[in-house]
Amino acid sequence: MEHPLEEAGRSSRNIDPCVLVIFGATGDLTGRKLAPALYNLGREGMLPPNFACVGFARRGKSHRQFRDEIKEDVSTYSRTKPIEERFWDHFQEQFFYHQSDFDQDQGYKTLAALLNQLDAKFATRGNRVFYLSVQPKYFPIVIEKLKQHGLIYDVNETSNRWSRVIIEKPFGHDSASAAELQRHISHSLDESQIYRIDHYLGKETVQNLLVFRFANSIFESLWNYRHIDHVQITVAEEIGIGTRGHFFEEEGLLRDIVQNHMMQLLSLVAMEPPVNLSATAIRDEKVKVLQSIRPLTEAEFSHSAVRGQYGPGFINGQKVIGYREEQNVGPTSSVETYAALKLYIDNWRWAGVPFYLRGGKRLPKRGTEIAIIFKDAPGVLFQQRSQKNEPNVLAMRIQPDEGISMKINCKVPGPSSPIQPVKMDFRYGSYFGQTPPEAYERLIWDCILGDSTLFARSDEVAQSWEILTPILNYWSSQKNAPFPNYAAGSWGPQEANLMLGEGRSWRIL
Ligand code: BG6
Repeated sequence: MEHPLEEAGRSSRNIDPCVLVIFGATGDLTGRKLAPALYNLGREGMLPPNFACVGFARRGKSHRQFRDEIKEDVSTYSRTKPIEERFWDHFQEQFFYHQSDFDQDQGYKTLAALLNQLDAKFATRGNRVFYLSVQPKYFPIVIEKLKQHGLIYDVNETSNRWSRVIIEKPFGHDSASAAELQRHISHSLDESQIYRIDHYLGKETVQNLLVFRFANSIFESLWNYRHIDHVQITVAEEIGIGTRGHFFEEEGLLRDIVQNHMMQLLSLVAMEPPVNLSATAIRDEKVKVLQSIRPLTEAEFSHSAVRGQYGPGFINGQKVIGYREEQNVGPTSSVETYAALKLYIDNWRWAGVPFYLRGGKRLPKRGTEIAIIFKDAPGVLFQQRSQKNEPNVLAMRIQPDEGISMKINCKVPGPSSPIQPVKMDFRYGSYFGQTPPEAYERLIWDCILGDSTLFARSDEVAQSWEILTPILNYWSSQKNAPFPNYAAGSWGPQEANLMLGEGRSWRIL
């Protein structure tokens, strides 16, 4: 289908009626992201006119309590404030609660009955989105039960109704477990029914990467090994792990951020132009990038894959504790809260260009960007006596302060000719003057539309695990990691700086 990037604006025209069922509806994600996303979609007229939402979770509560709780969440977390009471009063009537364990047949039987009632009441025609915001161990169970109880339809059935499943990350824990999960769910679901969510793909600035690269003619001829010295991709966060100690002890930073978000950014920035804007064409090109990443050898692990863990330190002048002191974290934990990788993409376009990736918790500030660092101009005319000119840098700021900047060298006015780097800067906020929709709004909307372009396909996920699993294995074989090895509020461990080699340094965000 045509990708919505091609559509002139956001609208609910031609969107099928449906019921959205959220598994894990009392969890953090529903409150912080999903409920506000639904509210904003509804308020802007983006949801189908015939729509209902069912929260499925283990705790007992009434429809009324559920509605009141999500109202609180929407009031707190919505990007638009304050909540529009008149709209809410009407909208909340479309929300329902269903209490059950995730593995109990009875709960699915009663769910099926509720969904039939809602079809009759809201004319939702049997169309379903099931959103799995549950612990990964429940993914296969919920999917199997939905299938057993006839809630997931066969894609070949002749009626027009459809069922789709959104699966939250993490999709697997390594190559083997991701393959096992895929094998399991593919008994019940066709790939076209699976929407593996990576909320980074729903961010406006991430979608703009394709527009920036392929709707402008000036960059393409420079976008290769002849002109680019290296690429830096950074996902820096000020926050620590907060109350997610259990989760983080299982996952670590590489699985939490790199395997999904950062690999997606890497593939979008490095991919070839797709043959068209269909989900298949775009994802085909992204997979090719991942397939071309050169696996790290045993000898490279220690200097091309650096891990770190934060110790106590200061963030914005406030003292903060180290990772090992966080709630539900072991006092000798060797889980990484920082990772930096040096990867090469062995294809014609990128031969010999290092891609440096770094992500971390408790870094000095929040900032996600992709920076393209160009090769130096020949040093024959304007080379400066004391130091060389800075390279041109094209920085795509994903967040915050979304925008694109270009660093160029410029003559300082006056009779002498010192050269100084200056920045040409485009900022979404000041140019378009509006807050972009939240990633989850876009992704829920796309799923209802049946557009999987901004979701990860099984081969993308598998390929990303292929690259990272050997690194994870190597790290777990190296006991006694020298942790903590960076102070909260610093830019990570020293080894990560050495990784870049002479003449290159990480960008200061
Ligand atoms: C999530 C990770 O996927 O992304 C979190 O689990 C991380 O650890 C978050 O904080 C970052 O998302 P964003 O949109 O704030 O950059």
